[in-house]
This record gives sequence, structure tokens and C-alpha cells, in this order.
Amino acid sequence: MQQEIPHPPRAGIVNAVRFGTDPFRFLEGMQARFEEIVAVPIPGRAPLVIVTDPDLIHDALARPGAFSRVPAREPSALIAEQGLVQSEGALWRQQRSIMGPAFRGKQVTAYANTVGETVDGLVDEWHAADDPEARDLHEEMTSLTIRVASEILLGEDIGRENAEQFHDWMRIAGAELEFSPTSVRPSWLPQRTSPEFRRAAEGIRELSDRIIEQRRASLADAGDEREGPPRDMLALLLRAEDDPDVTYSENQIRDEVATFLIAGHETTALSLTYTLALLARHPSMRERVREEADAVLGDERPRYEHVGELEYAGHVYREALRLYPPAWAVFRQASRKVRLGDYRVEEGSAVILPQWSVHRDERYFDAPNRFDPGRWERRSPSSVGAYFPFSTGPHACIGSRFALSGAVLAVARLTQAFEIDVASAELRDLRPTPTLRPADGVSATVRAVDRS
Ligand code: HEM
Repeated sequence: MQQEIPHPPRAGIVNAVRFGTDPFRFLEGMQARFEEIVAVPIPGRAPLVIVTDPDLIHDALARPGAFSRVPAREPSALIAEQGLVQSEGALWRQQRSIMGPAFRGKQVTAYANTVGETVDGLVDEWHAADDPEARDLHEEMTSLTIRVASEILLGEDIGRENAEQFHDWMRIAGAELEFSPTSVRPSWLPQRTSPEFRRAAEGIRELSDRIIEQRRASLADAGDEREGPPRDMLALLLRAEDDPDVTYSENQIRDEVATFLIAGHETTALSLTYTLALLARHPSMRERVREEADAVLGDERPRYEHVGELEYAGHVYREALRLYPPAWAVFRQASRKVRLGDYRVEEGSAVILPQWSVHRDERYFDAPNRFDPGRWERRSPSSVGAYFPFSTGPHACIGSRFALSGAVLAVARLTQAFEIDVASAELRDLRPTPTLRPADGVSATVRAVDRS
């Protein structure tokens, strides 16, 4: 028997404003009250359905035909409209199958090894700087991850200067796309886009075009290499242009590059920032990560083979992803009237599957607000339905293996080499942009570990 989804009393625009003002508290409150699912009435549009039961979440994410992605609209469509993070159906299938090989097998090893090399470069840079040094940890991690992502996915490291420029664009995009009381507004109300954001979006598009041109030229120079096995995602996309079964829209390749410039680095940078900030608050755990890194890495450059041995660093990283999931919710819409478990979901409903509150629910995690990496010694992450930092189903993160291996190496190496201290207030002001972002960077003091 299908039933109506429980809902709070109609409260005009009050709930919409509460959600837009502080979605984290709103989601926690709704979850505590309604437990598995709630439909929040919103004036002028279909309800907001918040799904917090793990089985229902997995069911919704397994059915992209019924629970489809929300199409990219301005302002975010100014950056990319049809990249892999936005596309659906036949286009998504085509693109995922063209690019899939860039995320498997040897490419995972290459990604981890590139993190090892890049993080060692960062260690040298920090050692060479005055000591102790105040740094914006988020900016440093952005630079690290975007340089690795561009090298592995696009065939070329975009360099420190472009990385810093990109960090600035992401700050502007975060401010523009942040939830606000008007986010859940009637669908007929237009959205205004700031000139600053327009310039940032244009910058990202231009950088993407430049990268594509350079890669085309380098592949042409390599001559026969074009016939050999291409290594990176951009080479795969360019090679597929010759395939008569493949159709690209005018801006398809640029949309993919812009999408991957962002998806390939932002969440990973955030996860590294949160992991290092949490370790700063828990010195005994930091010491344990350091001892493990000394034993496993010693003086060697971090590489893929070390990942499996850095077991404790792996638990620490997974626990940071639980408490501070960079993707704090997955957003969908009901493409028709559809059943979810025993419930009827109205066509057009905005559907939210929130890692933020499900990861902090005491029904699924003991002492859920405690940072406790040891919980992953007792349970395997894949056995916990309520843990889904990379989402699940066909649209689950294509880069999760990159992130899981590369981030563990970076956390281990940086913790081995430095005391990174972050005031606990730094993690208090987190913003609900499409990702979970610190309001204004994360100031850290970085000192070389005293080995005397
Ligand atoms: C800690 C790091 C990461 C987190 C937490 C994360 C999280 C997620 C989540 C939750 C989704 C599902 C989004 C949705 O369905 O709407 C997703 C999808 C995706 N992620 Fe990640 N991600 C991470 C790292 C990466 C990396 C390193 C890459 C690329 C190298 C990447 C590329 C993508 C792409 C392309 C998709 C769309 C997949 C599809 O629809 O086929 N992500 N990610």
C-alpha cells in the first residue's frame, strides 16, 4: 500500500526560509522528527522531500530515470552545462563509457604516484619557507589537488599560478552558489548572477579551451602515440571525436574539462583540509598517523604501493569524510510521480539525500559527533549503508579510488613532516555551497617536526 509522505504542518514560507538560512540544522531537525522521510511543503512549487533512511536513499540513487539530476541552470550552467556531473541518460552513458578507462587500473596508480611527487614538492616548499609559517590550509590543498588532477586527467599540470587563480574563482563561485533564504523560491522567480561570477565562469571556460588546444597539439606532436593507448581522460575524449558512433554537442569537450577541473580537485581539497584540521584537534591520533608514516614511508617518496599499509591514516581519512562530507547532500528531482519504498513521491519534488545528517545519526553511528577513526577498524565502510560520502548507484563518484588512495598518501606525508595546527574555531563556520566549504579559508600554523 502506498502512503503519503509525512510532512510538517504547512508553514507558508517559514520552512523554505529556515532551510535556505541553515540547511544543516534544518536537515538535522527534520531527520530527528521524521526519521526516514519527510515532504516539506514549499509555496509555489512541489515539496522538498528529504530522505534519511539508508535503504530509501540507496533505492532512489539506483533509479536515475525516476530520480533525475536537477538540470544545470544559470549561474552554474555558465561554467558547464553538460559535463559528466550534470548529464543524464544516453549522453551520460556515452561519456562515462568513453572516460571510464581514465579512472581505473594503472590510472589509479598514476594518480597516487603523482600525489606522492606533488606532495613532496609541497613539503620542500614549506621547509624552505620561514618557520613557523601561517598558511591557508584550504588554499594549499586546493593547489595540491588541482595540479594533480590536471596532470592526470588533462595531461598537463596547470601550475601554481593557475591553481591560485582557480582557488579564487572557486571562492567566488562558492559565494554565488551558496544556499540562502531565497534558494527555495518559487520557480518563476529569476536568479540574478553577479558580474564577478560571470568573470570567474568565463575564466574557467577560457582556461579549459586553452588546455584542450594544448592537448590537441601535444597529441598531434606525439604522432603515432595517438594510435597507442591514451592515458588521460582528455586524450580519450579527443580520440573519440574520430569515432562515427560518438556525437558531441558544440561545447561538450569544454564542458567535460571545466567539470573535471572542478570535480577532480575541490572535494578532495576539502577532505584533506578537514582531515588535517581534525588531526590538529586530536594530537594522539596525529602522533599515531606520524608513527605509521615513519614506519611505512620512511624517507621514500609516497606511492601507490604504500596506500594499503597506511591503514590507520585510511581510517582517519574515512572518518573525516563521515563528519565533514565535502558533498554534504545529493540533489535530485522526481521526474514523474514515483514510488519510493512504501511512499508516493509527487512529480517535480526536489529530493535531498543528505550525507550531512545521515552521517551524524546515532541510529547508525555510536557517539556520532565524536571523531573516532577506530570505528572503521571494527566496521568496513562498504558494509554501512548510512555511509555514502561518494554517493551510490550509477552516478556514484567516478574518482573515489583516486581520492581514497591519493588523500591517504598526502595526509601521511604532511603529518609525518609537519605539525599542522588549526584553531578549533576554524571549522565552526562552514558554508552550504554545493560543497561543504569553510567560510573564509582555514588558517593553519605549519612547523617542521622536530626530529632532534
Ligand atoms: C573526497 C573526494 C570526493 C568526494 C567526497 C566526491 C563525492 C562525489 C559524489 C557525492 C558524487 C555524486 C554526485 C551526484 O550524483 O549528484 C560524485 C560524482 C562524481 N565525482 Fe566525485 N567526489 C570526490 C572526488 C572526485 C574526484 C577525485 C573526481 C575526478 C577525478 C571526481 C569526479 C566525479 C564525477 C565526474 C562525478 C559524476 C559521476 C557520474 O555521474 O557518472 N570526484 N562525487
